[in-house]
Amino acid sequence: MTEGGALKKVFPEKPLLWIRVAKLLSRDPRRLFASIAVILFSVVLTMVSTVLLKEVVDVALPQHKVGLLSSLCAVMLVANVLTSLLTVITARLNNRMGQNLVHALRKEVYAATQKMPLEYFTSNSTSEVQTRIASDIGGVGNVLTFAAQGIIGAVASLLAAAIIMVIMSWQIALLSLTLAAALNMLNNRYAKRQRRLAHSQQERVTDMMQLVGDHLSLSGILLGRTMAREDWQLANFESLSLKAADEAWKQRMAGRTAFAIISMTLSLMPITVYWAAGTLLRDVSLGAVIVITELQARLSMPIQQLLQLSSEIQASGALFERIFESIDASANQKPSPVAVRSTGDASVSSISLDGLSFRYPGADDRAVDSISMTLPVGGMVFIVGASGSGKTTLALMLAGLLVPEEGSVRIDLSDGSTVGNPGSVVSLVPQESVLFNQSIRENLAFGDPSCTPEAMADALRVVGLAHTVERTTRGLDALVGERGAQMSGGERQRLALARSLLSGYPVMVIDEFSSGIDKETTESIFANLRDAGDGRTLIFITHRLPSLHDGDLVVTVAAGKVVAVDPVGVSSPAV
Ligand SMILES: Nc1ncnc2c1ncn2[C@@H]1O[C@H](COP(=O)(O)OP(=O)(O)OP(=O)(O)O)[C@@H](O)[C@H]1O
Ligand SMILES: [Mg+2]
Repeated sequence: MTEGGALKKVFPEKPLLWIRVAKLLSRDPRRLFASIAVILFSVVLTMVSTVLLKEVVDVALPQHKVGLLSSLCAVMLVANVLTSLLTVITARLNNRMGQNLVHALRKEVYAATQKMPLEYFTSNSTSEVQTRIASDIGGVGNVLTFAAQGIIGAVASLLAAAIIMVIMSWQIALLSLTLAAALNMLNNRYAKRQRRLAHSQQERVTDMMQLVGDHLSLSGILLGRTMAREDWQLANFESLSLKAADEAWKQRMAGRTAFAIISMTLSLMPITVYWAAGTLLRDVSLGAVIVITELQARLSMPIQQLLQLSSEIQASGALFERIFESIDASANQKPSPVAVRSTGDASVSSISLDGLSFRYPGADDRAVDSISMTLPVGGMVFIVGASGSGKTTLALMLAGLLVPEEGSVRIDLSDGSTVGNPGSVVSLVPQESVLFNQSIRENLAFGDPSCTPEAMADALRVVGLAHTVERTTRGLDALVGERGAQMSGGERQRLALARSLLSGYPVMVIDEFSSGIDKETTESIFANLRDAGDGRTLIFITHRLPSLHDGDLVVTVAAGKVVAVDPVGVSSPAV
């Protein structure tokens, strides 16, 4: 195979991809070059000590030159100790550099994913996002840590050893290099198989973990028991686990075979050299034979390294591609709304929707269809309508979380300016309450990291949770469990509402917060919110209207359109 062909095999197609990987490596040129320099120096030291061996065997030992023997041994000793020390230094440089790059990539993928539009998260599973951050980047870690230096070091070792061997005896050098290459290639086949199996076993384990996450979670167990599907759940897990076990043993067997071939290579090569030296070439000195066998043993390592690196680089191509794809995807998106909570001293003076429309990708009908209306500032608005009528979609656009297909949300401030992104003044309490597996305090502080315990207590009082929290032994420090599993459904919704109240946005859209809360508690929360009278505009999406007051507005939505706007206390409803 030509040199170009070999390179193409290792770095398949996609030159731009590898240029980008090289650029990534060049982010830390200091460590990269230091590591290469140390590796090359180690190669020189190793070769020096090997060449001195010939002098020991051919001159110092047979001629009993004690002084020469001592000096040669001393130099060899120092060279070997130094080489070992240098491996620690290179490992340190490489791993530091590799892990820094892994960290930087993880951060970039996280930041890029964070910027993706909501559609990305509804069409990609959580485990896919997790895989990108954990497995993909972990998978290229080795290439980032060692590829460049490893290739240079291995090529230098091979060249140096080959040159010395050729100088000692070109015939034996040719024989042993051919043998070493052939056996290493054989070994590489098994090593490749082992890596391929390791990779698919890793995928099986990820599948297994995803299944465990879904089915052995509280909701998975509840669902399994109530639908009597536990046997099916177990059988599903069993089949995945069996596949993982099957691949694990095949992988270990391939590993064992690769190891056996290496041991065989190491033991076969010196035997061949002794035989060739004694039969075919009588004029080779004993020292040269020993040096050649010594070098042969050392050859195996760089050959292995090159073969392994080449297959690792090939395997990492797809991973790098996916990583860069994630990083680039967000750059190609329309800028996704970033909420910056600031209106300065100004307050919201008007909120209006102008021809607001949205269609989910692939859907025939619009989920929200040309909604135009003005919302009363500082009041309570109730959006009602059948399930699937577009309320949540409307809420997402109001909060600037979904970019309208057509139309806009216009919010003006008292200083005459217009808000660029509704997300900077509107916060959303989502339909599914989102709580982190942390304490009540930490969950509340997510809304406003600087809020005081008094403000937290006040917000908890408004949502009727103050007594519940006081009753627990740990109070605000009580943990809420995964997704709030240690709280009731209604408590979760109220905690999420309290967190949003603390965040201090002048407009809040609250999507269905009372679905898990009894009528009496709901009424008292509304009364508290009205009492708070802090001038906020509260937009509730609900299937169950509470007692209404004068000034409230009830908006009815059907099939994405507003079909009725009923101001409470005003006699004629307007559409
Ligand atoms: N991520 C999505 N991808 C595709 N279609 C969606 C998506 N989310 C919602 N839809 C569809 O858009 C329409 C409006 O959904 P939306 O969630 O806005 O309804 P809703 O009024 O909030 O309903 P509910 O009262 O049940 O919460 C529905 O037909 C729904 O199936
Ligand atoms: Mg909804």
